[in-house]
Amino acid sequence: MAKVFITRDIPQAGLELLAGQCDYTVWRGDGPPSHRELCAGVAGCHGILSLLTDRLDGIVMDAAGAQLRVISNMAVGYDNIDVAAARARGIAVGNTPGVLTETTADLAFALMAGAARRIVEGVDHVRAGKWLTWGPKVLLGHDLHGATLGIVGFGRIGQALARRAAGFGMRVLFVDSGNKSEAAAQLGAKRVTLAEMLPVADFMSLHVPSTPETRYMIGSTQLAMMKPSAILVNTARGDLVDPAALEDSLRRRLIAAAALDVTEPEPLPVGHALLALPNCLVVPHIGSASHATRDLMATMAARNLLAGLAGVPLPNPVP
Ligand code: DGY
Repeated sequence: MAKVFITRDIPQAGLELLAGQCDYTVWRGDGPPSHRELCAGVAGCHGILSLLTDRLDGIVMDAAGAQLRVISNMAVGYDNIDVAAARARGIAVGNTPGVLTETTADLAFALMAGAARRIVEGVDHVRAGKWLTWGPKVLLGHDLHGATLGIVGFGRIGQALARRAAGFGMRVLFVDSGNKSEAAAQLGAKRVTLAEMLPVADFMSLHVPSTPETRYMIGSTQLAMMKPSAILVNTARGDLVDPAALEDSLRRRLIAAAALDVTEPEPLPVGHALLALPNCLVVPHIGSASHATRDLMATMAARNLLAGLAGVPLPNPVP
């Protein structure tokens, strides 16, 4: 029976699909396996079911051995995998697009609203016993309704965010290099360049993958072009934003706030400067973290894995 290494305890729905179909081992460490532990764990395996926290490079693939047929990532993003190295070795690579779109867009919208209306600061205020009376100037924030939302990356999640924004009467601008005319027309969204978006967006939300081209695409130059009242939201990948530039711009109030589900580095160490800023809301990469969506991701990853082990095309190969 084919041997499989699963790099973390995934939802039962995925494990149930694999039961009896392969001989799998689940990594039971407290966190992700280290690179060395990964190399040891995959040795002799035909398949790997991985997470975005695992760096799957040629070294890991070679540590597995020439019999490795498939790497199935339980994530839509696959920047943790050296896809070229996998292709060179004839290893199929799969991901889990689509099933997490709406859940991730829900969180992006929640972060926008949370930062705009200063929800976390409000909770802290109450818990600290500072809620002494209704105050005409207490915790004033920014309106979502009628505001301009800039979406960087108008793919599945970006468009799902635009649908939510429509319900709040927001004007939607987007940046994308692909042909998005149909979606733009349907959603009433307008294509602009990043340079055009930066000075006019009240909210800017990032939805592009991490690539060498997108790394630090939001740095000090871009942040300085944004409105002082603007709010930056990132639910995509942490390295899209230069953290030092963001800290500086939040501290100097060059922008009003940031709401981050993803960070650079990830996780952010306790004591990191961004965590000390009241206008920076950080949650621990939970964009797809609903019960239903994680079950769907686990089953999709399991199906990709089984197809790869059987040597048939994966239902969801990475592009
Ligand atoms: C992904 O799938 O790439 C998200 O970042 C986690 O669900």
